[in-house]
Amino acid sequence: MANYHAGPGGAAAGELTVPGDKSISHRALMLGGIAQGITDITGFLAGEDCLATLRALQALGVRIERPQDQHVIVHGVGPKALSAASAPLDMGNAGTAMRLSMGLLAPQNFDSTLIGDESLMRRPMERVATPLRLMGANIQTQNGRPPVEIRGSTRMNAIDYALPVASAQVKSAVLLAGLQASGCTRVTEPTPTRDHTERMLRAFGVNVVQQGATAAIEGGQTLRGTEIVVPADFSSAAFFLVAGCLAAEKPLLLRNVGINPTRTGLLELLLQMGADIKIHAHPEDGTNAEPIADLEVRKSRLKGIRVSESLVPLSIDEFPVFFIAAACAEGETLVRGAEELRVKETDRLAAMADGLTVLGVQNRLYPDGLSIRGGDGFKGGTVDSRSDHRIAMAFAVASLRAREEIEILDTANVATSFPGFVEIARAAGLRIETA
Ligand code: S3P
Repeated sequence: MANYHAGPGGAAAGELTVPGDKSISHRALMLGGIAQGITDITGFLAGEDCLATLRALQALGVRIERPQDQHVIVHGVGPKALSAASAPLDMGNAGTAMRLSMGLLAPQNFDSTLIGDESLMRRPMERVATPLRLMGANIQTQNGRPPVEIRGSTRMNAIDYALPVASAQVKSAVLLAGLQASGCTRVTEPTPTRDHTERMLRAFGVNVVQQGATAAIEGGQTLRGTEIVVPADFSSAAFFLVAGCLAAEKPLLLRNVGINPTRTGLLELLLQMGADIKIHAHPEDGTNAEPIADLEVRKSRLKGIRVSESLVPLSIDEFPVFFIAAACAEGETLVRGAEELRVKETDRLAAMADGLTVLGVQNRLYPDGLSIRGGDGFKGGTVDSRSDHRIAMAFAVASLRAREEIEILDTANVATSFPGFVEIARAAGLRIETA
């Protein structure tokens, strides 16, 4: 089992570029696979999650070249020319890969089985299967969980669906199925979630109409292969935004970060806490569907806040490291309405509460949130990441305000989203050893 030993006394400074966006890389592969012609992806995230999507598409008959780790060329086969895989498709740790694939594969003329690692096999899939069945899909789960068995049904109908949970994965799966259904599919979300699918569909020449909280797509449209430039992942930059707030005596600059407003809730939360962060937006040149900026952060005196529930979906993946910021802030921070954190790669509320308790931080766990009494940093100790990449990286950042070493167990899955995390963190000044 790979562990981190994160020593006290580290720093955070300099200039760095984190790897490409995970959500955008998954979508570029999938849309490229069903487009006509070639899709050229640069800045691709060569992490295990996106590689699971890449291998799944290859198993479905899509030819993919990879001249470099981060440069992928997808030879799209068109929407009707995927072919049956000869074995179950293994999505590893990647919820996005499995849920979006359900929308892609339900309308095909062949059957598919989707499996994953221990964590993914425990995650809820009915939230996607339910709307797809309403469209005519034939899908079975095992008590709501994988393996997901899909009997291809080529006659799917459009639906008008109000999402019961704010989930970009469910929204995207319905839109992908809607592309191959007859009629106009409409998806309405209770509060905004990441809109990468809608933006990227447009980049592939598909007409997606947004009216208020509803995205609408007419079935039968053709995707045309295109060039996708993947920005650096805001969710990976998040660890260094917090690291900078805790320890950047000199400015820490994060280059080329995607700042799509449906992803940057953490920026808003840190600014509300008093963080010293400057956003240097790149000019929009029309070639990029996603806004980009360089982010500059300095050590800041943070104050505890009450998190507005509307910001929860916009910062959903950033809560592990946000809780570390809260533990270093003056006063109390409260997050409620975040029950979705219980069904991520692990139960992130429980995992963070346990780890914070080990490190001497007072906290109270709610069914849908956590309150944290911030104060004078962390004592040393051993915390269990429960093999969740973001829990592991969050506690590595905590070492910047720790009095003794923090040992973090079970960190191999950091490679799912952030290959090279340890090297980049060390270059910034964190003291992390692997063992
Ligand atoms: C994602 C959506 C979110 C997020 C996940 C990636 C996506 O999941 O937590 O890491 O790429 O659409 P939910 O749709 O379950 O909120």
